[in-house]
Amino acid sequence: MRRILVTGGAGFIGSNFVHYLSENTDCTITVLDKLTYAASREALEGLDVQLVVGDVADPAVVDDLVGRHDAVVHFAAESHNDNSLSDPGPFIATNIVGTFCLLEAARRHDVRLHHISTDEVYGDLALEDPARFTEATPYNPSSPYSAAKAGSDHLVRAWVRSFGVRATISNCSNNYGPWQHVEKFIPRQITNVLGGGRPKVYGTGANVRDWIHAADHSSAVWEILQRGRIGETYLIGADGERDNLTVVREILRQLGRSEDEYDLVTDRAGHDLRYAIDSTKLRTELGWAPAYGDFEAGLAQTIGWYQAHESWWRTHKQATEAAYATRGQA
Ligand code: TYD
Repeated sequence: MRRILVTGGAGFIGSNFVHYLSENTDCTITVLDKLTYAASREALEGLDVQLVVGDVADPAVVDDLVGRHDAVVHFAAESHNDNSLSDPGPFIATNIVGTFCLLEAARRHDVRLHHISTDEVYGDLALEDPARFTEATPYNPSSPYSAAKAGSDHLVRAWVRSFGVRATISNCSNNYGPWQHVEKFIPRQITNVLGGGRPKVYGTGANVRDWIHAADHSSAVWEILQRGRIGETYLIGADGERDNLTVVREILRQLGRSEDEYDLVTDRAGHDLRYAIDSTKLRTELGWAPAYGDFEAGLAQTIGWYQAHESWWRTHKQATEAAYATRGQA
């Protein structure tokens, strides 16, 4: 696999994967990205990458590109739950139609495909439930975002079984790290504090997410792409369960502020209580392990990155907070 096409490679997780490929392999990398509000050219600066600006749901663009690569890693997606509640249309277009389009091209050209998905397809867990998601957990998505991702996963499995497409799927837990848009939880709170404001916590802050650094997500995807079994699904997680209040307090603590300097704001409609990943299959079958064993260390690295990249996030911050204000969440 020498020529890799990365869809959504100018977005948060996709660009972290492109950095990983650049630093750890000698692959030739092409990025297909629509450069929506959530993507940035700066994330690819200095890398030896060809950037094609286009829509993953446009068959004319996708068919030709896929035919010129050995493998496709498919990150391109609308991914923010809050946006899917206010305007679900783009989630159907990019996440479902885009994946369909890519699958048809992979089928026509017999190109290896790895599909990036989310643990949110499984719905949520009770706070005290000892259970975690596994590859056998039934799908039960809650939001337009997670339903659209679930639909795309089903398409991939159908194309494997019906047409012999050489595909794998991974469902990962919540990512954090460099280049994440300030609309998302961790960068929103870090940049609120850096700007002299306060973190904004939905509801009571009891909701639990299972955090993984995007660099660890990247190494797992690379393992699956090389050695994963065709047709299989692998769950990716780094045992990083924390409730939202704990994360906010840790951000405040690391930035030298008092741990109670946050605001509780209007909760998200249908807010999933808890996600938690059991990544035993990935660890035992492929021998993968995260480099950031410790969430607090990964958070410190991420805070440092946002401190050093203020000119990048400043450009998005005002509009993002204005949108939150209209929803009573600022
Ligand atoms: P988010 O980053 O939107 O990811 P997801 O919804 O995919 O898990 O949110 C992570 C958690 O943080 C989720 O429980 C919602 C909560 N949250 C807040 O409490 N405040 C915020 O400002 C945001 C954006 C999210």
